Amino acid sequence: MKEMYTANENRYDNGMKYERCGRSGVLLPKVSLGFWHNFGSVDPYERSREITHYAFDHGITHFDLANNYGPVYGSAEETMGRLMDDDFSPYRDELFISTKAGYDMWPGPYGNWGSRKYLMASLDQSLKRMHLDYVDLFYSHRFDPETPMEETLQALVDIVRAGKALYIGISNWPLEPLRFATQYLKERDVPLLIYQGKLNMLNREPIEQGILDFCAQEGVGFIAFSPLAQGLLTDRYLNGIPADSRMSKGKFLKESMLTPELLAQLREYNAQAQSQGKTLAESALAWILAQNGVTSVLVGASSTSQLEKNLRCL
Ligand SMILES: NC(=O)c1ccc[n+]([C@@H]2O[C@H](COP(=O)([O-])OP(=O)(O)OC[C@H]3O[C@@H](n4cnc5c(N)ncnc54)[C@H](OP(=O)(O)O)[C@@H]3O)[C@@H](O)[C@H]2O)c1
Repeated sequence: MKEMYTANENRYDNGMKYERCGRSGVLLPKVSLGFWHNFGSVDPYERSREITHYAFDHGITHFDLANNYGPVYGSAEETMGRLMDDDFSPYRDELFISTKAGYDMWPGPYGNWGSRKYLMASLDQSLKRMHLDYVDLFYSHRFDPETPMEETLQALVDIVRAGKALYIGISNWPLEPLRFATQYLKERDVPLLIYQGKLNMLNREPIEQGILDFCAQEGVGFIAFSPLAQGLLTDRYLNGIPADSRMSKGKFLKESMLTPELLAQLREYNAQAQSQGKTLAESALAWILAQNGVTSVLVGASSTSQLEKNLRCL
């Protein structure tokens, strides 16, 4: 018999802080949980489940997914579906669940990029996998230079009109297309809720490229993905490469990235954090949250203890 989950009754009084997402009615937790890794069919379900319980019990109301998170593709959404059935359906209205389409998902010309055909079909598939009637937030996962922006954006508007998503987000779009998107969506009364971009102490492009400033000016929220640079900005790699780490799996975080220069920089960041009585992870997350215009940091975690440590940034 599976143990029943009952959410902690103190979950909104447990240290989490909430931030208004741009100029919208939505409050997001300052720390959100991403399902890119650790929630696929290759991962033990009970561990994924435990991480989500810990998250929700600590006020993390926002879970971020995409069609191709896993591995295998689609399986993180299937895990979400199983979690809805096992644990979270009584709490659906307390959760803010996002998914995306934009990267390769299925073979052939209609399973990638930004066509209306792909976005519409992909979201229908995502809803089935997650056992949801609608998502709170649907993203264009990347900019498609070949598809007219109007086509991608109108598909997003129509998805909202069809009740399949409550809000629209954009991820990884360059500034000029983002400007166009913001205006296009505003004119159709589906204002852009949020931009999702890679921001951390080692990658400051959204600041350098003016994206963060643009979001702040336009009242669009900003959520930072890979805020710990996939684990580099923690104590994970300061003394070697642990066998159970993302880097040892070698696909998305390669050993070749960990150059002597980078290691020296990480050790320096670590020493600075320690001198303030903090961990590197804590101070790396706090650094992002202190940037003007940032709504939330979207962390990944392979254990509840990592999540527990990350929440100390608040
Ligand atoms: N829009 C996009 O294109 C895009 C792209 C990438 C990610 N995202 C989103 O952003 C989310 C987060 O990305 P991410 O997983 O790269 O985030 P991250 O928080 O930078 O890295 C998470 C990884 O860092 C390690 N870690 C986390 N906390 C730790 C701690 N306290 N101490 C030691 N190690 C720690 C774990 O790696 P180990 O597995 O080694 O333990 C964990 O899996 C994704 O799940 C996804 O929702 C979006």
